[in-house]
Amino acid sequence: MTKVAWRPGTMLSPLPPALVTSGDKNHNNVMTAAWTGIICSDPVITYVSIRPSRYTHTLISQNKEFVINIPTWKIASAVDTVGVKSGRDIDKFALTGLTPEPCQKIKAPQIAECPISIECKVIEIRPFGTHDMFLAEVVSVNIDDKYINEDGALDLEKAGLLAYAHGFYYTLGRRIGKFGFSVEKKKKNAIKNQALPKNSTTGTIKFTQKTHKRTNYEPYSFKKKSDGSFKKKMINKK
Ligand SMILES: Cc1cc2nc3c(=O)[nH]c(=O)nc-3n(C[C@H](O)[C@H](O)[C@H](O)COP(=O)(O)O)c2cc1C
Repeated sequence: MTKVAWRPGTMLSPLPPALVTSGDKNHNNVMTAAWTGIICSDPVITYVSIRPSRYTHTLISQNKEFVINIPTWKIASAVDTVGVKSGRDIDKFALTGLTPEPCQKIKAPQIAECPISIECKVIEIRPFGTHDMFLAEVVSVNIDDKYINEDGALDLEKAGLLAYAHGFYYTLGRRIGKFGFSVEKKKKNAIKNQALPKNSTTGTIKFTQKTHKRTNYEPYSFKKKSDGSFKKKMINKK
């Protein structure tokens, strides 16, 4: 393998082509921003880097608030449109059909069509050159309840989140593992894989220690849900 050294460039990818909403009820705006990320977990600190020429820059500088909305492939066209047209010239919500909705804690709107909207309050503005970095504290995270599963956990596999890499938009591929899966005990995975039906989409499977001798697990019933995940219930639970 030979790696060719290019001059420094904005090659970090994939990134979320986030929809940044700003302003208030009377003057709101939405623009695409891929220069965004998380800086700290507690408190949750994030940033967006925005050129001073953007209308969004003016609105965030005035109000010290913005929302990072995470888009899906269904609104990919709108994501691109609001990233090439300026809110100085046109109402981009009307243009694209994106729906602005009130937030919980700030005046800037969130976007109804996005499964996640992250409300942010600016704590610092750092100029770096072409872009100014708006460092902000996350004050609310608003999740479309469609993506909260029976266990109360966020399940975005079916959401069709978008990624942006070197000038192109992509949908996320299938989920291939969860945090820590590489070091999870093999035994646990063996049970799961052994017990799950390969082709059926619904049904209940029972298995016992007798049929799965290699495990120490109590019998469970598994029910495959329509989204492909499995509901697990202990059979002998008192
Ligand atoms: C995929 C994509 C990512 C973008 N990322 C950024 C960004 O991180 N920062 C920025 O200043 N502009 C970015 N832009 C450009 C702005 O979205 C664009 O200039 C927009 O028209 C500004 O709108 P406004 O003037 O209404 O604020 C991006 C555009 C696209 C299409």
